[in-house]
Amino acid sequence: MTGVFLPLLDRERRVSITQQIFIGMRSAILSGALEKGSRVSSWQDLSAQLGVSRGTIKRAYELLKDQGLIVTKGRGGTWVSTTLPDEPSENLPSARAPRGLFYDFEGGPQYFQLGVPAQDQFPSKAWHGAWRRAIAMESAQTRIYPDPQGLLSLRREIAGYLATARGYSCHPNQVFITSGFAGALGVVLGAMGLRGTKAFVEDPGFPRTRLALQQAGVETIAAPVDHEGVKLPISERDVRFAVLTPGQQAPLGMSLSAARRADVVDWANAADAWIIEDDYAGELQLSGRATSALAADDRFERVLHIGSFSKTLNPGLRLGYLVVPSMLTTLFRTFVECLAPAGSVVAQQAVQNFMAGGHFYRHLRRMKTLYARRKTLLVENLRREIHPGVRCDYEGGLSVRLFFPGTADDVAIANEAQKAALGILPLSPWYQSQEPGKGLLLGISNVRERSVRAKSEQLSRLISTHTYG
Ligand SMILES: Cc1ncc(COP(=O)(O)O)c(C=O)c1O
Repeated sequence: MTGVFLPLLDRERRVSITQQIFIGMRSAILSGALEKGSRVSSWQDLSAQLGVSRGTIKRAYELLKDQGLIVTKGRGGTWVSTTLPDEPSENLPSARAPRGLFYDFEGGPQYFQLGVPAQDQFPSKAWHGAWRRAIAMESAQTRIYPDPQGLLSLRREIAGYLATARGYSCHPNQVFITSGFAGALGVVLGAMGLRGTKAFVEDPGFPRTRLALQQAGVETIAAPVDHEGVKLPISERDVRFAVLTPGQQAPLGMSLSAARRADVVDWANAADAWIIEDDYAGELQLSGRATSALAADDRFERVLHIGSFSKTLNPGLRLGYLVVPSMLTTLFRTFVECLAPAGSVVAQQAVQNFMAGGHFYRHLRRMKTLYARRKTLLVENLRREIHPGVRCDYEGGLSVRLFFPGTADDVAIANEAQKAALGILPLSPWYQSQEPGKGLLLGISNVRERSVRAKSEQLSRLISTHTYG
């Protein structure tokens, strides 16, 4: 059975045509107008019927596929999935967690969980001291509204940190305290009016960023990543911004090469576009000296730099910072005052105390050494245990990547690993393109000497059963 459905398009709307097709077909599928298991028009046919380019339809189909609403069977055509995700409450892309991004909010972290700091090496004494002083300061102060941009003393510390550790000089007035990277991204989308526009995202790239943009009605254009980092397909027109991880490409780990850094900044300037720099792992680059922030090369005031304390201190703090070009400070100040003021002053004060006491820098230095050691340990064990057909890539980043040959089901393997509390992520959901790489991402921060061998053996058995068994 072929489902005939032509989404209504309004070319006057600010929402892109891709997004309109995506939203139209999505509600048709969820309402049952396009039945489960029915065949949908090929993107070539739909492009002819609607009079829009094939690329536009193809991208809308990719978004539907990302959300598990359709399946493509190569020459066998495109079909509505037979099992659909839960119906969401509003006419926006689903708020489901992306497939294959596991978060355990209660227990954990699991052994190879990515994106969390080492649990056993935190400088608790200095941290408690910083909080005790912060609480005393809060009690001694008048109870008035705090600066919505964030505590000036913390913004000064962050500006100092960026200058020394990330080679980026900025004024504290350019710094905004946010609820991590996620909060900062929301602020940028709102303040800059970027909802419903078009953006480059890295492919592969952080699935949560892609989902966040899709929820804001942004059409995401995949920018491929090679050994030098991301390469923007600059012939694509009307792209308003790019979200990039130049310091440590997520998930592949390399730093953006000098030539590519120049390319992306030049593109932003020529295209009158913006770069959102996701510096999620900041200075935590394990081999050699950390490359400086891309914002440090920003001759044209086009880069909005975002840092987070999630990897360096604790994701539970929900603290990060956004640094905007000086000409945008008033715009952002007005926005955050009304819609996204910085959070608890006690938490901000505690981090400021911790930084001012020199503990943050010391902690980062220690973690770099520790993580490098843990990564080496893990790689040695994986090399011994894992089937030689699985490629192990460990250069750069806070992860080790395992790549499978052929068509192994990395999501199924990661699901099994999840049940065994290994906390491994599948690689394929990090891709937007039609042919994702298949593999696994292993976090290294909580690898321990006494258990790494047994965990590697356990993982090896799992992979062998699924891939070679
Ligand atoms: C690529 C990337 N960006 C940002 C973040 C951090 O986000 P947040 O600061 O909201 O915790 C993560 C954490 O997993 C990440 O992997």
